[in-house]
Amino acid sequence: MLSGIKPSGELTLGSYLGAIKNWAERADQYDCYYFMADLHAITVRQKPADLRRRTLEQLAQYIACGLDPERNTLFIQSHVPQHAELGWVVNCYSMFGELSRMTQFKDKSAKNADNINGGLFTYPALMAADILLYQPDYVPVGEDQKQHVELTRAVARRFNGVYGDVFKIPETFVPKVGARIMSLTNPTAKMSKSEDEDAGRIALMDKPEDIMRIFKRAVTDSENSVRFDRENKPGISNLMTIYSAVTGKSYDEITAEFDGKGYGAFKLAVGESVVEMLRPIREESTRLLTDKGYLESVYRAGAEKAGYMANKTLRKVYKKVGFVPR
Ligand code: TRP
Repeated sequence: MLSGIKPSGELTLGSYLGAIKNWAERADQYDCYYFMADLHAITVRQKPADLRRRTLEQLAQYIACGLDPERNTLFIQSHVPQHAELGWVVNCYSMFGELSRMTQFKDKSAKNADNINGGLFTYPALMAADILLYQPDYVPVGEDQKQHVELTRAVARRFNGVYGDVFKIPETFVPKVGARIMSLTNPTAKMSKSEDEDAGRIALMDKPEDIMRIFKRAVTDSENSVRFDRENKPGISNLMTIYSAVTGKSYDEITAEFDGKGYGAFKLAVGESVVEMLRPIREESTRLLTDKGYLESVYRAGAEKAGYMANKTLRKVYKKVGFVPR
């Protein structure tokens, strides 16, 4: 199993409930690889010092969220040069038309009209390389990344069609609960880590009082009944998704719990549950960040293990396409 997150913004409640929490539960069943996608992050402009800091913070947060480095391979994408190398090869097997259809490319170019660079366009080819290098069975991603995994499958099949079985065709793995946590101020849009001024975002490192303030202001509706209806009640439904993911309660149980209690009480309960869930994660991340030597030992060991796997695939690919072996 393999997945990654770009260190282009603070990890959010959505990153945790939608991704990392589920990853952490898989370590028993799968050989798991998770990385900080720093190569992907520079497809939009980053301040170098911020990128460096966030990459290490993200590693500390992965660990604090339960990804035990003894049982998961945690690494920084740029430390394993095979990503960039296979990325080039995959580029040569990805069609301009396919890449042009990627909705994330269209969204990002609209948002970064002054910097529509080649990397933004070929991003999915690099992502396909990230995946194919490790021959994973499953790639856990959010809804917004499914299209990229589809492309990965298409390119892998195309390549295998020409050269024989080189790549395993990976499956997308979208978790059922918490798959999509939406913004608390704009509940029809995903809770984003990169949007600078998203007032509806909870970062993993936010202080309890800030978390409570954001929940109290969460956008709801005027019906005043806590029931799940994504279409007509996106705000309440999002809060129910969060509460359900944190407490394990079903939507019916939540509806019963807040019957006749009003939205104010519901928002407080959701906020408090999130504060308590994130408290140990924040404390442990803060502690780990003071231990730079430990973090370094983790990302070094991770890159070594990942590099070994990645190199096996890359050598095979280089041979198949006709490069002279070194
Ligand atoms: N594109 C993913 C995102 O924006 C991050 C990513 C990069 C990724 N490479 C990956 C996810 C490989 C899964 C597998 O969130």
